Amino acid sequence: MTEQRRTVRDGYDTLAEEYLDRRNDDPEWVLSELTDRLEPGDSVLDAGCGQGVPVTNTLTVDFDTVGLDFSRSQLRLARTNVSGARFVQGDMTALPFEDDSFDAICAFYSLIHIPTDEHEQVISEFARVLRPGNYLLATVGDDAWEGSNPDWLGTDVEMQWSFPSIEETFETLNRVGFEVVEQFVVDDELGSDHPFVLAQYDPD
Ligand SMILES: C[S@@+](CC[C@H](N)C(=O)[O-])C[C@H]1O[C@@H](n2cnc3c(N)ncnc32)[C@H](O)[C@@H]1O
Repeated sequence: MTEQRRTVRDGYDTLAEEYLDRRNDDPEWVLSELTDRLEPGDSVLDAGCGQGVPVTNTLTVDFDTVGLDFSRSQLRLARTNVSGARFVQGDMTALPFEDDSFDAICAFYSLIHIPTDEHEQVISEFARVLRPGNYLLATVGDDAWEGSNPDWLGTDVEMQWSFPSIEETFETLNRVGFEVVEQFVVDDELGSDHPFVLAQYDPD
């Protein structure tokens, strides 16, 4: 495991409760951009599901939902807070699922923690487990940035992020077989603007 991934995983293991306290905005409108394209009962992967609230729990209302995260503390909170989803510990760079397992994937605020040089690997993993013709909804970066905060959320815990520019992300998505169909900006409760992309996997 790379140094950055260890910092991110250990960071969430330590500050999971604080993150949950701060994570109380409503994902409904942006999530509906994905879910409006689904049928009830479709299978959805929430990649980097974290504490499971407010995204995984919203998905469970209508869909067969799997939450994946590599932080034990986050998964413990998710299992406590969300009923009706299956939670799996794993790494987004090597998803523990068969090819063509899901009808949709969302990745809220998780891809942006992956080292920039591994974004393509994660997006390729999304393509591998997503059935062709279906959609990925993910938070991405705007301008390319790599950095850390040694005292994130006032917890004295270090957190790291890294992402390429949105143009490079679009190129990577295209290279892997996705076509970007929508782009949104979401203001989160932590005071940042975050771009989201909705992309359709169409390998042909
Ligand atoms: C900012 S939190 C977002 C949690 C949730 N998606 C939400 O919207 O609140 C990022 C989550 O991504 C997870 N994560 C980061 N890198 C990961 C990786 N390589 N594999 C699996 N999970 C990862 C972290 O453990 C953390 O729970």
